[in-house]
Amino acid sequence: MIKAIAGTKDILPEDISKWYLIENIVKKVMGSFNYKEIRTPVFEETRLFARGIGEATDIVSKEMYTFTDRSDTSVTLKPEMTAAVVRALIEHSLDRKQVLNKLFYISPMFRQERPQAGRYRQFHQFGAEALGSQSPQLDAEMIIMPYDIITSLGLKDVKVKINSLGVPESRENYKKILKEYLTPHFDKFSEESKKRFETNILRLFDSKAENDQQIMEDAPLLIEYLDDASLEHFEGVKQTLLDSGIPFEIDPKLVRGLDYYTHTTFEVISGSVGSQSALCGGGRYNLLVEQLGGKPTPGIGFAAGIERIILACENENSLNLPPESLDLYIVDINRDNSALAAKTALIFRRKGFTVEFDYTGRSVKAQMREANRSNAKFALMLGGDELERGETVLKNMETGDQQILKIDSLEEFTNLLKV
Ligand code: HAM
Repeated sequence: MIKAIAGTKDILPEDISKWYLIENIVKKVMGSFNYKEIRTPVFEETRLFARGIGEATDIVSKEMYTFTDRSDTSVTLKPEMTAAVVRALIEHSLDRKQVLNKLFYISPMFRQERPQAGRYRQFHQFGAEALGSQSPQLDAEMIIMPYDIITSLGLKDVKVKINSLGVPESRENYKKILKEYLTPHFDKFSEESKKRFETNILRLFDSKAENDQQIMEDAPLLIEYLDDASLEHFEGVKQTLLDSGIPFEIDPKLVRGLDYYTHTTFEVISGSVGSQSALCGGGRYNLLVEQLGGKPTPGIGFAAGIERIILACENENSLNLPPESLDLYIVDINRDNSALAAKTALIFRRKGFTVEFDYTGRSVKAQMREANRSNAKFALMLGGDELERGETVLKNMETGDQQILKIDSLEEFTNLLKV
């Protein structure tokens, strides 16, 4: 038997209502903040991500699905959307059409990580990117939107963590200080952290190794070395969050795994999904557009993992999904009228009702069982003496009430299904 590739998942019909629910809330909330949807290709030139996300990041150095296509171009299945959205902004000169572009997306992403609960190789994100303004109100908006979406799904065990990474100048200065502080401890670090010590020293704060965490506990923090303008921006973000009533904590060790961040970074963490606890992450990236060849344009965005959010909803039992149902089930009493059943179904389907009939020649009893199993609100009985008289019986499955309708004028009675 051929199975789906490890770390990928089928979304089966029994689960699709959760996805529709989330996608609809995303579109509603993003719409209310006036974000417009953008869809980009599933694959891009590899150098877009290498340059955009950063060569030293885990994503680029070990997780990308990269291959050479038949015309010898190195292409990569998108591991995230920010670089792709920025590429699209530059390519279509969106910034010339309006000063501020507010864009959102819902899309599959691909990263070759070790699969576990909440971590997949194909997963889905919804997210947003706003390009063209430094306003701290936008930073706050990028936290409020996912927070509102996540809490409107009934999730309670969530925390918002924010931090500021400032600008590259103060960060470089701080990195030297951090390096100096950590050098005497170098030999005690895990192998992974020893590597990061040279390539991406800030990520040492992310290490899960106990020894590493102990060393990092008293390490100097970037937030103590921020320049005044960065601090002022961060104050603006905090104030807007306070005004909006969003509970948040400042986590000076929140560094995030992508290289493009400047100023605000944030995560929404769930306490109910185990080790893969980040439901959402994001931050400001004021230099990325320039780095990818566009004109200097500040940006900020977030992305949230839909599978993780669904997992959290299941663990907190927070979703209140209405049971599946049919408006009408058409019963072919003598099992010889499937053509009439199909024709009748079409009348109601074209009025927007969800209608089913039997395609498999089952007995009347089995058809009635099916009508009950699929929660049909009404059953329409085709056959017997009534049909000979040009009539049919419409049965309300809840009350048992029956009405006789003329077959030739069913069109006029479609309103009867509206209960
Ligand atoms: P990220 O933190 O790499 O950020 O991913 C955002 C979210 O995607 C995570 O918090 C998590 O919920 C979900 N996620 C990531 N990897 C996986 C995986 N292997 N399996 C399941 N879910 C996963 C970004 O992608 C940035 N582009 C966010 C951003 C937008 N920053 C600025 N704009």
